[in-house]
Formats: sequence, structure tokens, C-alpha cells
Amino acid sequence: MNRGPRVAVVGAGACGLTAVKALTDARLSVQCFEKGDRVGGNWVFKNKNGQSSAYRSLHINTSRERMQFRDFPMPKHYPDYPRHDLIARYFQDYADAFGLERQIRFETAVERAEPRAGGGFRLTLAGGGVEEFDFLLVANGHHWDPAWPDPKIPGEFSGLEMHSHAYLDPDEPHALRGKRILVVGMGNSAMDIACELGHPGVAAQVFLSARRGAWILPKYAFGKPIDQNSIIPGFVPIGARRALAEIWYRLVVGRPEDFGLPKPDHHLHQAHPTLSSDLLPRLGSGDILAKPALVGLEGRQVRFADGSVETIDAIIYATGYNVRFPFFSSDVVAPKGNDLPLFLRIFPLDREDLAFVGLAQPVGAVMPLAEAQAKLIAELLSGHYDLPDSAERKRRTERERAEMFARYVPSRRHTMQLDYDEYLLGLAAETKAGHARARHRKARATRSEDAS
Ligand SMILES: Cc1cc2nc3c(=O)[nH]c(=O)nc-3n(C[C@H](O)[C@H](O)[C@H](O)COP(=O)(O)OP(=O)(O)OC[C@H]3O[C@@H](n4cnc5c(N)ncnc54)[C@H](O)[C@@H]3O)c2cc1C
Ligand SMILES: NC(=O)c1ccc[n+]([C@@H]2O[C@H](COP(=O)([O-])OP(=O)(O)OC[C@H]3O[C@@H](n4cnc5c(N)ncnc54)[C@H](OP(=O)(O)O)[C@@H]3O)[C@@H](O)[C@H]2O)c1
Repeated sequence: MNRGPRVAVVGAGACGLTAVKALTDARLSVQCFEKGDRVGGNWVFKNKNGQSSAYRSLHINTSRERMQFRDFPMPKHYPDYPRHDLIARYFQDYADAFGLERQIRFETAVERAEPRAGGGFRLTLAGGGVEEFDFLLVANGHHWDPAWPDPKIPGEFSGLEMHSHAYLDPDEPHALRGKRILVVGMGNSAMDIACELGHPGVAAQVFLSARRGAWILPKYAFGKPIDQNSIIPGFVPIGARRALAEIWYRLVVGRPEDFGLPKPDHHLHQAHPTLSSDLLPRLGSGDILAKPALVGLEGRQVRFADGSVETIDAIIYATGYNVRFPFFSSDVVAPKGNDLPLFLRIFPLDREDLAFVGLAQPVGAVMPLAEAQAKLIAELLSGHYDLPDSAERKRRTERERAEMFARYVPSRRHTMQLDYDEYLLGLAAETKAGHARARHRKARATRSEDAS
């Protein structure tokens, strides 16, 4: 039997799915709207929603054990870093195991979400239907709207320019074999794509342009996936952890400059991790040539910050993504430069009928964090968890944001960083505190009923 507010969920990717599960487990009334024809979002290669950024060779880079939902471990026969199709299968299995598709309306995009006068939202759906809900939970993903260099690189390029979002493989959607390719960026998309094209016999030559150096981490250390290495205990202060990690890096890997990359202008752990066990050997083999920032375009010629010029056939901008909610008007939700302050990275500071799941960039996988967020929202809507008052929410959010911005180098991609273990511990502590607040509220209400 359903009870409590009527809740809508936007999106049935990993984060929307776990939200549907948590709300259903709490016996709340939930309706999920999904633009595509299946669950799994980004992990469905060539998803009919047109939003997946997956390429044919994509594997996860957060290991299986760190990525799996706590309520539904990945099969033991899965490798440490499965390919996208196994991950999409896992999300489908998750939906099947808990009967989640009963709550999902597929091929139904939410086109507009407008606040109702007394709270809650009126949703306009693709096809024109309108439905009303008391609470809206947003899980539309934040890696689907390509961010191009801004400002634009000066000049005009006469070859092919594409974003990593559109890249599928060396043949699709553009023929890249035998070409001279420039990949721009030092995130994980740039690593994967440069390395795939940089394998002997694929592109004629790959160049990798970095406006800032990066500490490229291997996928394994000490025989284990790197995100399962906890050689430096969590109680060690961040500065000391950083210094120890850099000593480890120097001994095991070397210095990024040894491979022709720019010297990082920041310490290890001050940028979102870039992982690749393939890039450094490819640089060492000359299959990929490191270049500094791209500063100018003229016909087929591209110019770099060190004055060097190369003739290039295609540029792939692996320059990240915009955080966007096309269904909200800007007076409701408007991230500025990918920044949207949220209490616990879940709740807006100015509304109580809205929450976000998975709108975070964890150092570690997003799924267990989204699962914990969804459970907290379900507790709130069931009346078992109370939020702190709005002044306290604001104060804590401001403090956490200040710490995050101080820790990471300024970049559009560092606006919602979370530390996986720290965040889960913090959420567990906050859940306990919110339970106590809810118990006290209920006790106060009983006392005042008894008194009257
Ligand atoms: C190339 C790449 C590799 C990645 N690798 C990893 C990794 O190894 N580990 C990791 O933890 N994270 C990784 N990520 C981050 C990625 O964002 C998450 O893995 C995951 O996809 C987030 O799930 P989500 O549900 O928030 O978003 P998505 O997977 O994007 O799903 C969002 C869903 O919402 C639906 N939707 C959107 N708008 C609407 C609308 N208006 N109406 C209805 N439905 C809508 C979409 O159709 C989609 O199904 C990677 C990202 C990229 C781009
Ligand atoms: N195998 C995998 O599992 C995998 C693969 C791909 C992506 N991902 C994940 O998907 C998410 C998105 O990754 P992403 O690599 O696409 O994007 P990203 O992490 O945002 O990285 C974008 C890169 O482009 C650079 N950049 C941005 N604007 C630029 C400009 N104007 N000129 C030059 N460089 C510019 C950034 O540099 P600055 O740091 O200087 O801003 C950064 O190096 C991340 O969470 C990532 O971990 C995972």
C-alpha cells in the first residue's frame, strides 16, 4: 500500500533506478519518467535517448566492488573493470530483480517541471501530457551535454571538429583511421580516446593537448584495482596523505614531465583522478605526442602554447560536460558554471519539494553514493528523518563548499567533488542525527496532544 507524498523521478539511469528502489522499499508512491526505451542511461551504448557518452571500447574505471550497489553486488564472474555492455546488463538485472520497471514510463521525457503554488511540481511530458506531483527527484545525469572550449580557440579549423561525447570508435561516426588526430583535454575521456586511436595501425599520429598537467594514475597498484588500495589510513590529514601519495607516485610511476606532459600545477588529489594504464607507454612509444595548450587554428594547422605547429585532420575535444536541466526555467534551478549548491549534495537550499540524486563527482564510483542519497530521501519522505533547519543547512553547505573549492584546482569540472568514503560516513552520521530530530519532533507533538 502506497502512502505519503506522490513522488516523480526524472531518469532511469543508475541514479534514478536506485531512487525508484529506495522509494518503493519505503512504500511511497513513485512514478519515474525515462526518455529512453530502457534503464541504464549512459551505460547503454547508442542509447535511443541520444544522450549516452559511451564509446564501443568503454570500460568502467571505478572497480566493480566500489561501483556496485550495496543492495545488489555485481556477479563475482565480472572482471574488475567490466565493459559498458556488462554494466548496462547489471543495471537491467537490478531493475528486474526488484521489479522496478513497474514504476518507470519509458520513452517519456519530462519537458517542463513547473513549481505549483502550494509546493510540488507540474510536469509536462513529451507528447503533451501533464501530471502533478508533491515531490520531484531529479536524476537526469550530468555527462550528456558536451562542453566545448569556452572561450572558443581563436581562428578557424578546416578539418573535422568533434566532441568526445560523439565518439563511438575509430570508424564511427567519422572515419579517423590513418588520420592525424589531436585530442584536447586530460580527463578520462581524453585518455581512453587518445589511447584507442594511438594504437599502432589506427591513426597516423595522435597528439594530446593539455592546458594543465595531470597525475595519470594506473588502474592497478599492488595487484589490486587502485581504488581498493587504502595504504594511507583515512585519519591521516589530507596534506600528509597528499605528500605520501606523491612519494609513492614518484617511486612507482615517475614524474608526469618524464613522459613529455606538462608538470602538474597542483598536487596529487587536487584534481579529479585521471586513470590510464595505457597512456604513458603510448607516449613512451611515440604513438601519442604530448602537446601543451592549444592556442590557435588556421586551416589544417594548429598552434600550441610552446609555439609549435602541427598539421591535423581532426580535433576531438574531450573537454567535459555541462550540468543542465532543460526542464527547469532559470528561476527554479540554474547552475552557474556547473555549480549548484545543495545540502548534502542532495537538497536545494531554497526548496523542500525537490532533491537530486547522483549530482556529484565522486573520487570513486557514484552508484553507492546515489543509493545512500536515495535511502535518505525515502526516510525524509516517510517522516523518519528530519532535515536540520534551513540556517544550519546553509551554514554546513557553505562550509563544505569552501573546503571543496580550497582543495581542488579551479575548473568547471571541480564544482561538486565528493570523497567516496568520507561522504558515505558523513551521510550515515547525518541520517542518525536526522532520525533523532524526527523522534524529538514526534515526541513533542505527542506531548502537546496529551496536554490539550
Ligand atoms: C564516458 C564516461 C564514463 C564514465 N565512467 C564511470 C565509471 O567508471 N564509474 C562511475 O562511477 N561513473 C562513471 N561515469 C559517470 C556517469 O555519469 C555515471 O556512471 C552514471 O552514468 C550516472 O548515472 P545517472 O543515472 O546519474 O545518469 P545517466 O546514466 O546519464 O542517466 C540519466 C537518465 O536520465 C534520463 N533523462 C535525462 N533527461 C530526462 C528527461 N528530461 N526526462 C526523462 N528522462 C530523462 C536519460 O535518458 C538517462 O537514462 C562515466 C561517465 C562518462 C561520460
Ligand atoms: N573509463 C571511464 O570510466 C571513463 C571514461 C571517460 C570519462 N569518465 C568519467 O566521465 C566524466 C567526464 O570525463 P571527461 O574526461 O569527459 O571530462 P572532464 O573530467 O571534465 O575533463 C575535461 C578535460 O578537458 C579539459 N578542458 C576543459 N576545457 C578546456 C579548454 N577550453 N581547453 C583545454 N582543455 C580543457 C579539462 O582541463 P581542466 O582540468 O584544466 O579544467 C580536463 O582535462 C568524469 O567523471 C570521468 O571520470 C570515465
